[in-house]
Amino acid sequence: MNPRIVLVGPMGAGKTTVAGLLGEALGLAVRDTDRDVEAAEGRSIADIFVDSGEAHFRALERDAVAAALAGHDGVLALGGGAVLDDDTRAALAGRPVVFLRVGLSDAVKRVGLGSARPLLLGNVRGRIKALLDERTPVYEAVARWTVDTDGRTPEDVAAEVAKVV
Ligand code: S3P
Repeated sequence: MNPRIVLVGPMGAGKTTVAGLLGEALGLAVRDTDRDVEAAEGRSIADIFVDSGEAHFRALERDAVAAALAGHDGVLALGGGAVLDDDTRAALAGRPVVFLRVGLSDAVKRVGLGSARPLLLGNVRGRIKALLDERTPVYEAVARWTVDTDGRTPEDVAAEVAKVV
């Protein structure tokens, strides 16, 4: 099985929302690796980070991505940091990957200054800026298409993704 669309991009790009809209519009099942990890572990991502550490989360995430790439043929949304893993990047080669690009201020607005996401605790704006700076080249490298999300509704973004893939 091969996912028809794989969405990558940072937190606040709208991957989960856009994936849901694409699933509805195209009649495809939707899968999200964050939810797969939580379901497999029976605990939240925040709890996994706090109790077991980020490295453990990344190992679980790598397995979840590999399983979803092999066993899902709909729309797949990856967690924002999944592309940092070498095996995951290799597994994405040749796939219909779409990078949902977002700038700093829209990402901060969407995530919310009080975000509970573990990587953002303490300083949401500063942390998002660092993540965007570090990861944007990686998203660009793995993606076949980039769709800009700044100032746009998820419906608008989903329509453009459906058109390009
Ligand atoms: C992360 C993004 C999160 C989640 C975890 C780590 C990251 O997913 O996997 O908190 O490293 O960017 P979303 O991008 O779906 O929020």
